Amino acid sequence: MKCLGIESTAHTFGCGIVGNNCKVYANEKEIFKPETGGILPREAADHHYLLAKEVVKKALERAECEIEDIDVIAFSQGPGIGNCLKVGATTARALALLNNISILGVNHCVGHIEIGLAKTKAKDPVIVYASGANTQIMAFENGKYRIFGETIDIGIGNLLDSFGRELGIGFPAGPTLDNWYFENNNYIELPYTVKGSDLAFSGLLTAAKNKLNDKNNSKKDISYSLLHNAFAMLTEVTERVLAHTEKKEVLLIGGVAASKALRKMLTEMCEDRNAKLFVPETQFCTDNAAMIAWLGIVMHKAGNKMKLKDTQILPNQRADEIIVNWKIR
Ligand code: FE2
Repeated sequence: MKCLGIESTAHTFGCGIVGNNCKVYANEKEIFKPETGGILPREAADHHYLLAKEVVKKALERAECEIEDIDVIAFSQGPGIGNCLKVGATTARALALLNNISILGVNHCVGHIEIGLAKTKAKDPVIVYASGANTQIMAFENGKYRIFGETIDIGIGNLLDSFGRELGIGFPAGPTLDNWYFENNNYIELPYTVKGSDLAFSGLLTAAKNKLNDKNNSKKDISYSLLHNAFAMLTEVTERVLAHTEKKEVLLIGGVAASKALRKMLTEMCEDRNAKLFVPETQFCTDNAAMIAWLGIVMHKAGNKMKLKDTQILPNQRADEIIVNWKIR
């Protein structure tokens, strides 16, 4: 069985082809990178429309299969930027209708989780989803991926990218900031905002930007301190959720999972708690379409079906709205 998945929630337009046991035949993508500022929805959508056909074609070539070999088409239904989501939904509907293939809209966050579980040995982890727009700490309880804590303003990746833009380093800013983190830096006092199990990053961002105006502060010291606080906040909440749920595993997913600094902090916390940290390889952490195709397979096998009228985009859909009927526990 093969599923063709389409991802288009934000800056990435991807097409993945995945089979049984999460065998990935193709995981193609094109990323919209604005020259200045953040993502403008219309520009990102135009980028996706222009490249959609090429990316799908490349994925089929890479997988060495024809569209007739595909059993299900899956696409990211939400959450995401409306304009961008529409491109994926339209592409998926066209492919499904023209070729008489069943279609499934799937949740982007759950896609990250399921490919993370399939590609690591994690069984029942606390899930840390750290990406541009999303920062959530989740765990599977009573038939759903429950959100125990989350950002109440911006995502942790947006924090890094916004600060990176202020410094004039390219997008994504994470890799450069992460390299600087391990240089010999001094800590500068910055806000640390944990509210129960929720997090807030915008005050930290504003304070760090203000520190840049003082010539006595080095930009590397400020960057180090910003990363240190953001990752410590996330680690603190993860530890709290581990204690609350009594789970012994942590699964780190999302683009910020590539950060060595975050992995180091979470690893140390896990070691102290006799828990284990799992991180899938980076191509399955960042936004990708293989995860959408894999979730398509998992949901299709559990008997989930959609009519065309059910395939409208859901820009605000949350992971905890999805009934996880493929997992009996
Ligand atoms: Fe994502």
